[in-house]
Amino acid sequence: MKAIFGVSGLIAITAMAQGQVTFTKDVAPILQNRCQACHRPDTFAPMSLLSYEETRPWAKSIKQKVLAREMPPWYIDKNVGIQHFKNDVSLSDDEISTIVKWVDSGAPKGNPADMPRPRTFNDSDQWHFDQPDLIVTLPKDQLVPAEASDRWIDVLVDPGLTEDRYIKAIEVKPIKGFRAVHHVTTSMKHDDDPDDGDNVQGTFLNEYALGKNADVFPDGAGRLMKAGTKINFNLHLHPMGQETPANVALALKFYPKGVTPKYIETTEKIGDPKELDIPPNADNIRFDGYNTLAKPARLLSFQPHLHNRGKASCMEAIYPGGHKVEMLSCVSKYQFAWHLVYLYTEDEQPLLPAGTILHMISWYDNSPGNKFNPDPDNLITYGQRTVDEMGGAWVSYYYLSDEEFKQQVEARKGKRTLAKAE
Ligand code: HEC
Repeated sequence: MKAIFGVSGLIAITAMAQGQVTFTKDVAPILQNRCQACHRPDTFAPMSLLSYEETRPWAKSIKQKVLAREMPPWYIDKNVGIQHFKNDVSLSDDEISTIVKWVDSGAPKGNPADMPRPRTFNDSDQWHFDQPDLIVTLPKDQLVPAEASDRWIDVLVDPGLTEDRYIKAIEVKPIKGFRAVHHVTTSMKHDDDPDDGDNVQGTFLNEYALGKNADVFPDGAGRLMKAGTKINFNLHLHPMGQETPANVALALKFYPKGVTPKYIETTEKIGDPKELDIPPNADNIRFDGYNTLAKPARLLSFQPHLHNRGKASCMEAIYPGGHKVEMLSCVSKYQFAWHLVYLYTEDEQPLLPAGTILHMISWYDNSPGNKFNPDPDNLITYGQRTVDEMGGAWVSYYYLSDEEFKQQVEARKGKRTLAKAE
């Protein structure tokens, strides 16, 4: 044996015989699938997890983060509400136990021959959908000074769209100076827009905040972008102690030319608490918000939006008449650093009758126990700044006719696998 495999091969074989979990055989494939998209050189993640040598020093921290389900970033409560999402990146219980076993047994490397081929990353990895058709950036970088108060600016860009197109997927994010770009919202402005004072930024398109992924609409649903539409970028810029040039990009994937999707999708902020009032040094402060669906609707996604004191966020459906209440989704360990869109699978997208009330419940921790709390002695109200609070969620949906609603409910029967609160 020794002559054939050498000493390390022999150790590896012994390890396998004992059923030992090794980096090369068991852990590296999980890191490739679930971690390396972010944890590799030159990204916004703090360290690379490509090789054994890079990963080994982080073993303890990795165990802690995966056990707490803080990494990979995916914070949907696994015990209540809908559990099937198109973009679920969470680890399975088995994967977590593999990582934990590996760390607990001293984080061995194992046989180098077991190491999977390195995963390749290319530019398209930067977007959370395949091949954008159009990428719109700011014509020039915004210079964020070293020190100043936060700024909110609007930049209007003409992407030169000569035909009407329907959007299939959309994502916006900083491409330069990302640490200084706290937040971006994009909207569409068109010369035909009604000239009302409430609509200065145009029709809401999409939003970015740290950790945000893409909005991908289901087949058959899209949003119209008319020829001649301009994109308004609203940026929230936050000085970082050194002068930082910042730029952002909006990536769009369209339906093929001439294709009109059947359903027109809307993304709306549900339950925004303008009346929010969070006392100093207090935990578990709750705020409720309500929106009524004017027509039958199919819900596509859920993206809670709270700030530093945000602790948890849930959305339930109160059916017309109030006889039935269904918990749809909860993020029970809300992390301000991660603004994730949770995209329901087709079979789980809630089908809700007209008159259903979407009930948003937000919880806040304004105590010193919240490590993200900049100042527990402050009374906190609603506001745009990170040190103020927000509440509620961005929810995407499309309306259905009564007939379509009936058909879709019928087609759904027996398919929906889980909604524990039902
Ligand atoms: C979407 C990008 C992304 C993915 C996927 C991701 N991470 Fe992270 N990770 C980050 C970022 C950004 C941070 C630093 C900010 C934070 O902690 O939220 C981080 C922090 C960490 C930390 C803490 C580092 C420290 O400074 O203490 C560990 C450990 C970690 N990640 C492990 C993992 C593991 C293991 C996986 C896969 C199972 C994973 N991450 C997947 C982006 C990601």
